[in-house]
Amino acid sequence: MSLLTPDLLRELVAEARLAPSVHNIQPTRWRLLADGRPALVDDTTVRAPIADPTGHDVRISHGAALEGMSLALNRRGLSIVDIAIEDQPLASPHAVLCRLTIGSGADSDPLADNVPRRMSWRGTFAASPQDEAALAQLVASLDNIVCIRDRKQIADIAAWADEAELSFTREADFRRELLTWMRLSPNDPLYLQSGLNREALAMNAIEAVGARLVLGPLFPLLDKLGLAAALLSDRAKTSSAAAIVLFCRPRGEDPLVSGRHFYRLWLEIDRAGLAACPMSSLADNPAFNDRLRATAGLGDEVRLVNAFRVGRPTASMAPRHFRLPVDQLIV
Ligand SMILES: Cc1cc2nc3c(=O)[nH]c(=O)nc-3n(C[C@H](O)[C@H](O)[C@H](O)COP(=O)(O)O)c2cc1C
Repeated sequence: MSLLTPDLLRELVAEARLAPSVHNIQPTRWRLLADGRPALVDDTTVRAPIADPTGHDVRISHGAALEGMSLALNRRGLSIVDIAIEDQPLASPHAVLCRLTIGSGADSDPLADNVPRRMSWRGTFAASPQDEAALAQLVASLDNIVCIRDRKQIADIAAWADEAELSFTREADFRRELLTWMRLSPNDPLYLQSGLNREALAMNAIEAVGARLVLGPLFPLLDKLGLAAALLSDRAKTSSAAAIVLFCRPRGEDPLVSGRHFYRLWLEIDRAGLAACPMSSLADNPAFNDRLRATAGLGDEVRLVNAFRVGRPTASMAPRHFRLPVDQLIV
């Protein structure tokens, strides 16, 4: 067993925090236990209870952070040899979710290099002759995805994604919560640290003002006039994707485990030279989840966890990460 020092844990956390989290809320904390083992800790005060009422996406986010830690360890020739998951974590502000035992001697993980490059791409995609080969590489490297490439099916899914998103956006509480995580002005003290800022959302200053109004006081009127759907639409972006990738996992799997695979899929997408954005509302809305399942012919043993739009970005992706400082992540 390898014991971690406080300095090493800081280095590891600096990399593990690059994992994705729902709305970039970053619920994961880390602790060095008295016996030198690291523990993954849930900051129970960090939640998005309207968008994620069951805590499913928070647990997926913890799983992604856990995989981030595994990759950070791997870069140093270390690995997680045991994960002791707490059955009933205490619901204090900082609840230990699992304790990790670290060992030495890991083969280098091919995805470790993609960690600093991966990011959510919320712009449009440009078709490229290399898409075919890139998607073939992706499908060959993973057995838990369905890759939809048919243009008509992609166009249908783009329309469904808008409908699914609108079904949530129509709830005032959902809009209110989303706005608390949106950092629409660079003057927001948390602009570079958490939540979704203008840059991450691929919005300019004018679009950001528009988003605040559309998701804020103007929504009921715009919806009544039939304008909200068009103003919030991502249809063109989704339709421009080279593929819709369905992320599927065995039914009954702990989302902490699914979250590790969720991150690995996203890193594989990056490794294939592509970019992606999840469309959670498609998976979270039961009617659209069913439609996607039927489109892909998924069996009952499989759960459709999320759907990504995937393709080649229209602009170069300068890696950027808006994350909490390491000091705040170690408790
Ligand atoms: C479980 C989960 C669900 C997500 N759902 C969405 C989504 O529906 N739409 C979206 O634009 N981003 C979604 N994201 C992406 C996060 O917003 C993103 O990972 C986070 O803002 C950090 O930014 P980065 O991916 O660029 O590092 C999701 C991420 C996770 C972990």
